Amino acid sequence: MAKKISLTGIKPTNLPHLGNYLGAIRPAVQMTDSEEYEGFYFIADYHSLTSVHDAKNMREYIYEIAAAWLALGLDPKKVTLYQQSHIPEILELNWILSCFTAKGLMNRAHSYKAITQDNEENGRDADQGVNMGLYTYPILMSSDILFLKADVVPVGSDQLQHIEIARDIAMAFNHHYGDVFHLPKAQVREETGLIPGLDGRKMSKSYDNHIPIFLPQKKLKKMINRIKTDSTDPSVPKDPDSSLIFQLYTHFADPKMVSDMREWYQRGIGWGEAKAELFKVIDAHLVGPREIYNELMADKSKIDRVLEEGRERVRPRAQGFLKEVKEVIGVQ
Ligand code: TRP
Repeated sequence: MAKKISLTGIKPTNLPHLGNYLGAIRPAVQMTDSEEYEGFYFIADYHSLTSVHDAKNMREYIYEIAAAWLALGLDPKKVTLYQQSHIPEILELNWILSCFTAKGLMNRAHSYKAITQDNEENGRDADQGVNMGLYTYPILMSSDILFLKADVVPVGSDQLQHIEIARDIAMAFNHHYGDVFHLPKAQVREETGLIPGLDGRKMSKSYDNHIPIFLPQKKLKKMINRIKTDSTDPSVPKDPDSSLIFQLYTHFADPKMVSDMREWYQRGIGWGEAKAELFKVIDAHLVGPREIYNELMADKSKIDRVLEEGRERVRPRAQGFLKEVKEVIGVQ
């Protein structure tokens, strides 16, 4: 039987951090061995264009994100990795879909609403800083998903509404023309618990409490030493479950190491020692990927080749499907 299609987009903005790795990249890479799904991963560069308006940065982000995913184990022999802008049919479909999208649906999109609300609360024009790309972002995302007839779309819970919108648009189209678009389902990633950042809040770029994945060893160590602790004496027993260092440790260490660490906390551990152990286990995880990442970034032709292969696999499917859609609407 043909495998089902799993598809997800990765927006190239800044370098991913450990929260992204544990929450999105690692589970996605683990899924690539699936017997049930054929995986498609793409770099959503046209989505980034809503906010990245500098060519040098754009190019850099695209390479960085591709290098990061490849270095962290995404195997382009098992899945297809491609770049959104390499498939122009997505944009042709984008227009077609936009003619079946109620404007009100866009008005209700959370990310757009959040911006207009913030503007209004601060006495600015509601649409200040909003370009049409940002406003119609969910349509382009629907196009990404629908042209490949994705069955499941693994996303974080913040993207759930976008998948609902893709279904709404597909249904609006199908209502006129029959079963043309396949309705996708969101597969919300189980939140791997909240990955805490340096200050204990959720690890996020916007809180500036994140640990980038590909830091040089020394910088990584420094960063881990910045994790907030109190001044409890090393000999005093400590509660592992309320310790940030311990929480992070559990995501990288194997079960035996975790239980040893738990005992060490209960006997009394110095924060300096705990941080040293955390550094060791994170670094052990990242030594290999860091090296691959640096190699890929030093000679980008390997990334180019992977993305080129992706284009060759995806483009014919896009062309074939678009032809069907155009026939259906009567322009061909
Ligand atoms: N909007 C998604 C994000 O910010 C990225 C994305 C673009 C996407 N197109 C997609 C995700 C299609 C899933 C399917 O994370």
